[in-house]
Amino acid sequence: MLIKVLGSAAGGGLPQWNCNGRNSADARKGAGGIAPRTQASAAVSAHGKQWVLLNAAPDLRQQVNQTPELHPAPDGGPRNSPIEAVVLTNGDVDAIAGLLCLREGQPFTVYGTHRVLDVLASNSVFDVLAPGLVRRVAMTYGQPFTVEGPSGAVGIDIEAFPVPGKVPLYLEDEKAGADLGTQEGDTTGLKVTDRASGRHFFYVPGCAKVDEALRARLKDAPLLFFDGTLYTNDEMIAQGLLNKTGERMGHMNMSEEGGSIESLAPLDIARKIFIHINNSNPALREDSPERAAVEAAGWEVSYDGMEVRV
Ligand code: MLT
Ligand code: MN
Repeated sequence: MLIKVLGSAAGGGLPQWNCNGRNSADARKGAGGIAPRTQASAAVSAHGKQWVLLNAAPDLRQQVNQTPELHPAPDGGPRNSPIEAVVLTNGDVDAIAGLLCLREGQPFTVYGTHRVLDVLASNSVFDVLAPGLVRRVAMTYGQPFTVEGPSGAVGIDIEAFPVPGKVPLYLEDEKAGADLGTQEGDTTGLKVTDRASGRHFFYVPGCAKVDEALRARLKDAPLLFFDGTLYTNDEMIAQGLLNKTGERMGHMNMSEEGGSIESLAPLDIARKIFIHINNSNPALREDSPERAAVEAAGWEVSYDGMEVRV
């Protein structure tokens, strides 16, 4: 199974259009050691011919153009695409807006929890994905399924599981209390398995906390892509970018007590890769002490175009 990181940044990307923070400013002017990044998404293929997208970032058009594997086949007729399905892990703008780039009458399948499919159903702009062509299929926790696109099964099985997280920003309900109206189905992790070999990996681009259930699931995992939004919980406040902690945003920090590096360290995960990295995160800078600390702890920082085989 081949995994291609289409985008490695969190919402906003790097540089973010209105951000004058150090990372965005340096990425914008092409300073060395801080590569621009599009918003988080990965493409997965069992045989290299049919592809499944894990989330559809607002940058999807650019991501497809930059990824030859996702181009139409030259001998496949006037309109064709190797993208057979999109599996959604949450309803945030950075995970779903790219669906709008996949209009133009192309059949494929969209998988999401009821919570995320409800977001699509309640926003009629998503009907540009013609209902007769683009199937929407509900994912139920505890019920693994075989991904099927217009050309049939693509050789990949997926199990969706709940992850501590938060309702999308635009659906937050202050009156609902501290959880802002978060419900099961808002934030999902994926176990992605190559049917032929049985090899698998986990994709968890958003996570508020490593709880007991997640610990049990990730124990001894061969490969994990995990929420790398922040380095420290309060970095956006410290940099004057946004008056919110990571905790408030439903995302984890890499460092500090209770951070992802510490929380996942005891689980003997063979390969650990951060994705969904916010433009405030100092570990984005290749020469930073924070990057060195991340790598010394056995983690990799993903980048756009990164390829991983399992
Ligand atoms: C998030 O990951 O918290 C969201 O992408 C926030 C947003 O929608 O801007
Ligand atoms: Mn996000």
